Amino acid sequence: MPRQLDSGDCLLHLILADSELELVPREIASHRVIRWNAHRRGRRPTEILLDSSVHYPAMRKLPDWTRRGRPDIVHFCLLLALDAPLNREGLLREYVHTRHDKLITLDPATRLPHAFNRFVGLMEHLFLTGATPPDKPLLRLEDAPLADALARIKPTRTISFSHLGRRKRWKDIYRGISRDDDVCAIVGGFPHGSFISDVEELSDEIICVDPEPLHAPTVVTRVIFAYEEALGIMEARQKR
Ligand SMILES: C[S@@+](CC[C@H](N)C(=O)[O-])C[C@H]1O[C@@H](n2cnc3c(N)ncnc32)[C@H](O)[C@@H]1O
Repeated sequence: MPRQLDSGDCLLHLILADSELELVPREIASHRVIRWNAHRRGRRPTEILLDSSVHYPAMRKLPDWTRRGRPDIVHFCLLLALDAPLNREGLLREYVHTRHDKLITLDPATRLPHAFNRFVGLMEHLFLTGATPPDKPLLRLEDAPLADALARIKPTRTISFSHLGRRKRWKDIYRGISRDDDVCAIVGGFPHGSFISDVEELSDEIICVDPEPLHAPTVVTRVIFAYEEALGIMEARQKR
């Protein structure tokens, strides 16, 4: 259970943007691979999550098909973020924004299933009902472009991460951030390519942290760790 917030505590908002998380699009729902997979799982074809590791043969007709259907990236990133000491301190807020402008808001107390198939089932329920689990929803899904998400969060600083950004060292990223600030960090929830949303327009800064494109989960853990270090959160925890 995350610690109760002290008044004046600042938050890090983490958005996984343009994530490749979606239900099977109607235009490929009748493909035999999709029908077979849906039948096996006892669901309608358009009620299962698109997963390139299973639906690859059906996806060639889709625009951007080489990057779509990657719930594994979202699963991996969220498991790491929710377990981070910053989240345990109640100072992290996680959001997943998708290519179709769906926005998932997670309660910091969310405990995601580690098993991928159970995560997929949870996401399918979320896409179909808008909130899950049914008794006490911890995840909520709504329609919201990235700009609307930021308008709601109202961060004092928005930092996006891209290997096409301006080079910066991790220790300099949060320099000058104080406990009065709410920072929003945007990391792409896709395997390759560029942001679809107009991240440049929405960010104060776009930062590159490595000469090579890194995997999103690697960047997510470091975005959080660098923030913990910059605000002395790990030091404070060690003294407890
Ligand atoms: C697998 S990458 C997508 C590849 C993409 N070509 C890119 O812009 O880095 C997923 C996300 O991780 C972050 N990322 C990956 N490599 C990065 C780098 N060298 N510097 C900053 N962010 C990076 C970006 O947010 C990116 O959208």
